[in-house]
Amino acid sequence: MKTINIAIDGPAGAGKSTIAKMVSKEMGYIYVDTGALYRTIALFITENNIADKDIESSLEKADVSLKFIDGAQRVFLGSRDVSDLIRTPEISMAASRTSAIPEVRAYLFETQQKIARENNVIMDGRDIGTVVLPNADVKIFLTASAEERANRRYKELLEKPDCPTYQEILDDIIKRDYQDMHRKTAPLKQAEDAVLVDTTKLNLEESAAAIVKVIKDKI
Ligand code: C5P
Repeated sequence: MKTINIAIDGPAGAGKSTIAKMVSKEMGYIYVDTGALYRTIALFITENNIADKDIESSLEKADVSLKFIDGAQRVFLGSRDVSDLIRTPEISMAASRTSAIPEVRAYLFETQQKIARENNVIMDGRDIGTVVLPNADVKIFLTASAEERANRRYKELLEKPDCPTYQEILDDIIKRDYQDMHRKTAPLKQAEDAVLVDTTKLNLEESAAAIVKVIKDKI
């Protein structure tokens, strides 16, 4: 049976994961966060101090997998659930660097396609509509201004110890956008047939409603 595939791409901090989770609940689809896969590879490389020249040959030992526990995605390195460990600024930046390596992208490609073949999915990332699921039923490019994305992230982190400054967060976002958009392999860009949703002036509920509307208009 053909599955329904919804691709959501966009820059860091546009709210893709929060909004895609809300939409997937409403539609009854599985939500797949592909950034978590790149973060897990980055954690593997960081923990094992793997030099750039050895990354390709070490990938077969990485053993990265996804599991859905009570409907929520968890990522594993071997049998270790690393879903929480990968959410640090260091791993964000390391993921942006390692995701530019073509062999890393090739290693994760089939994992992503297989989930989409077997399930109705809302998959978010940077190259889902352009590379991973070029025949997706609906493609959305979700974005917001860099300042608004930094502002949202700053508010989220404010309660935590060692909260970075607004400027540090903004600098990180701008740097990560640049790296993601200018790499040779599968750079972040809007697919020609993607619908652009700009959430700069929308709250979460309004953003989710805008996306549900795009999806329902198309399928
Ligand atoms: O989405 P998230 O911020 O968790 O992604 C972390 C990094 O992984 C991104 O900055 C990007 O470099 C990379 N990524 C990617 N392709 C995807 C998903 C994430 O290159 N499909």
